[in-house]
Amino acid sequence: MENQALTRVLTFGTFDVFHLGHLRILERAAALGDYLVVGVSSDELNRSKKGRFPIFSQDERLQLVGALRCVDQVFIEESLEQKRDYLVEYRADVLVMGDDWRGRFDEFGDICKVVYFQRTPAVSTTALIEKIRL
Ligand code: CTP
Repeated sequence: MENQALTRVLTFGTFDVFHLGHLRILERAAALGDYLVVGVSSDELNRSKKGRFPIFSQDERLQLVGALRCVDQVFIEESLEQKRDYLVEYRADVLVMGDDWRGRFDEFGDICKVVYFQRTPAVSTTALIEKIRL
């Protein structure tokens, strides 16, 4: 699967308390190319970005996302500042992000195509955690 002719798609996320919104964006991302790589945010990155540690550890989230049929490769995203390095390292032709990030990654348009997908309505990890708490 390391063939240069393949269209390689890269996306990022925490994917904690895995839900349908996560599955949909990964399936849509995979449909844009031949090989889908997913950067799963580290526990520490999640803490600094969202102010809390995820429910599932980075290793558990990595295993869950990596087991999906639409996902070919996973790695731990350690830092938001390394996006460009990850895009180069994994030879991304396309970067996919949810539209909660619209415009924030346009700067990478010089090395790959940048696509924003609309989020699946009415579901999020944060809302699920709240619902379970109640
Ligand atoms: N995503 C989506 N639709 C949703 C929720 C998430 O398309 N309803 C996408 C995000 O845009 C992102 C990826 O799934 O590209 C991973 O999102 P993540 O932040 O892990 O999930 P959220 O449910 O948004 O988590 P939180 O509530 O903690 O922000």
